[in-house]
Amino acid sequence: MSIQTEHYGAVIDALTAHVALLDEFGGIVAVNEAWRQFADANGSRLPNYGVGSNYLEMLRNPAGCTGDNSATESEERRSATTVVAGISSILDGSCPKFQLEYPCHAPWEERWFLLTVTRFPPGALVHVVVSHENITALKVAEKQAVSQAKRLAETFSSMVGAIALAIEKRDPYTAGHQRQVASIAVEIGRVMQLGKDQLFGLHLGATIHDIGKISIPAEILNRPGALSAPEFMIIRCHSGVGQEILRGINFLWPIADMVWQHHERMDGTGYPQGLKGDQICLEARIIAVADVFDAIISHRPYRPGLAIEVALAELRKGRGTLYDPEVVDAALSFLEKVGSEWHRTHLTYAEALSA
Ligand SMILES: [Fe+2]
Repeated sequence: MSIQTEHYGAVIDALTAHVALLDEFGGIVAVNEAWRQFADANGSRLPNYGVGSNYLEMLRNPAGCTGDNSATESEERRSATTVVAGISSILDGSCPKFQLEYPCHAPWEERWFLLTVTRFPPGALVHVVVSHENITALKVAEKQAVSQAKRLAETFSSMVGAIALAIEKRDPYTAGHQRQVASIAVEIGRVMQLGKDQLFGLHLGATIHDIGKISIPAEILNRPGALSAPEFMIIRCHSGVGQEILRGINFLWPIADMVWQHHERMDGTGYPQGLKGDQICLEARIIAVADVFDAIISHRPYRPGLAIEVALAELRKGRGTLYDPEVVDAALSFLEKVGSEWHRTHLTYAEALSA
């Protein structure tokens, strides 16, 4: 070790990452204490901990990681090939820095490392610094967070499913309508390229968007004839009642707002708050369009379901005034094609989650 690398040694020994210093050909000039300890702990038999060997050659014949299955080993070999290319790009000056997360599992534990390769200023004996930082704790925490988020989503799905079932027991029409609206709404959201998390929340909100109807007497909901003005007033309360029921639940998505706002209209003529444009959350604007479409084509106690063309004409007529034009365009893009077969787009919770 030269005086130069001895000085470097004092610095790199203070680091917890496993560090090697390479010369211009990829030969290992020095390694730090953490590198030596890792080699000892993993039974490495490299003479002098690799100092004096060529690191690129070592990577081309990897023996440091001991994966417990062929899939892991092949992933490690792919990583090694990428690292050789990365270090070579530093050595030839075509790249200033190279980083890669890679697995290096041991028989007794899964491990991940972050490799960072940086270049020394020209003229030094050392040309490249290679650092392997153990990021296993971070990766494990990431995995746990993903798993917990999935469980939480499943819990919300179950909760919403239970609420929808409670509605179905009392009012089968509303339950079926909500399911259909949820299917159309998610399809609209997919056309609008919403992220899967937002799509999932949209599906949940649409599935219970009429939950407030639970407060409306069945004889009003199912009356075959025309409703009186007071009865209309009672029905119009359902979005506010729905918001009251849901606002205490700390959903990850604005479910209570979706329910509260699904009868609002872009020009402010909707209810209950008379919101306009962007004051209405996007999900509620989507549910509004899906709701109107399904309500028109569905059979009601006071009339049979109307033709698809009638529903499509209503969306076109209200585009930009009652309904969000982008939402209408997204809806028409598939409803015009599938027509009465639209229900083939029906999605389950799981499908919405993985869309
Ligand atoms: Fe409604």
